[in-house]
Amino acid sequence: MGNESSSRKRFSKKPSAGGSKSGSGYSVSSVSSKKAAKEASGWATGSASGSGKKERPKEKRSLVMSQVAENSAKKKVGLDDFVLMTVVGKGSFGKVIQVKKKDSGKVYAMKVLKKEQVLKRKQFEHTMAERRILEEIDHPFIVSLRFAFQTTQKLYMIFDYFNGGELFHYLSKGGRFSEERARFYAAEIALGLEHVHAMNIIYRDLKPENLLLDADGHIRITDFGLSKENVTDDNVRSFCGTPEYLAPEVLKRQTYGKAVDWWSLGTLLYEMISGLPPFYDRNRDRMYKKILGAELRFPSHMNPEARSICRGMLQRDPLQRLGYRGAQEVKSHPFFAPLDFDALLLKKIDPPFKPVVADSEDTRNVDKSFTSIPAAVTPTPVDGTLSKVTEDFKDFTYTATNVLDGESYRVSCIDDEFDNRK
Ligand SMILES: Nc1ncnc2c1ncn2[C@@H]1O[C@H](COP(=O)(O)OP(=O)(O)O)[C@@H](O)[C@H]1O
Ligand SMILES: [Mg+2]
Repeated sequence: MGNESSSRKRFSKKPSAGGSKSGSGYSVSSVSSKKAAKEASGWATGSASGSGKKERPKEKRSLVMSQVAENSAKKKVGLDDFVLMTVVGKGSFGKVIQVKKKDSGKVYAMKVLKKEQVLKRKQFEHTMAERRILEEIDHPFIVSLRFAFQTTQKLYMIFDYFNGGELFHYLSKGGRFSEERARFYAAEIALGLEHVHAMNIIYRDLKPENLLLDADGHIRITDFGLSKENVTDDNVRSFCGTPEYLAPEVLKRQTYGKAVDWWSLGTLLYEMISGLPPFYDRNRDRMYKKILGAELRFPSHMNPEARSICRGMLQRDPLQRLGYRGAQEVKSHPFFAPLDFDALLLKKIDPPFKPVVADSEDTRNVDKSFTSIPAAVTPTPVDGTLSKVTEDFKDFTYTATNVLDGESYRVSCIDDEFDNRK
């Protein structure tokens, strides 16, 4: 298989992803873990570091865990309830389509996964985990899952639609961000990571493609397709992620834990400020070697605090890494001194950049290569052999009658590639 990344762009048309069957089971996070996470991350009280304020953000909050299932169940929400509008993303197993709910007129993002692809590429556990995790999470900087349902061949997840564009959209235009802007995004992401870590979930796929802006310019972390539940220790094994953002311990096939997300945040912050990830190379093997051993160098315009926090999060030894002892370590680094995390969590700090959007349907910040794909619907072929597949996904949810076609793109989990390396 090819080892040369075609460009700094999206990871398109990658070889199929391998399975990753490491660690313990995939039980649903309990309500108590959710409560603990909210308290730990300050979300229950609206306070990031214990100021005791009871206030919550003014915006409408996402539905809590069981409500998603209840919504889908009680009203039997299915594909027929939505008008398909525009393709806004193409992921590893299908498309993400902007849709409008017929009764409310509200715009959503519909992620469509092909069951066959999911099973063939051994992503069953990841997909079921993604759905469980997203139901559980309720956080201002993480996407909210509203409904989930299935047809015989496909799985559907319906999210609030965020139209500010991916960070990738802005960085790929040759761009880099001012340190102020990079600080703001990194801080909102850090709050999101703090929250998922408090739920004993690791995210594992932090990258500009998975970071959306809302219409005001706040971050929304999307895509929990590689996330893992029940991580209380450094005992995860699967080789998982996207090459540029992989932590050294993952590359070395060591067991790892939450600190991999701080490594990825260090990589991302460096990329936001400098324009490229720190160890970027078009050749993937060379990039892996650099991640494992190259000297970390900074562009001359990067300020001392930015260098220092990147150096901290890019410590190759996870035990020495900033964040290993919790998100607070990262949040209290001098780089973030200009930001008040309590205010940030309450969205009381104005984003440094406001995306240009006309209305909730606007797709101008989405790559034309996606929006030009027809958001077509084809009828489900009658195929008796699919009953086994449907049985496997019985916990995903309910049944509708139509399917959509799509092909694979952008693969993040790369077990098989590792196995083929020396
Ligand atoms: N809620 C959303 N609002 C707007 N765009 C979205 C939303 N969710 C996903 N997308 C777009 O679709 C792309 C693919 O979705 P993602 O969940 O990352 O799938 P994959 O796991 O296949 O990468 C994202 O990179 C993003 O551009
Ligand atoms: Mg993605």
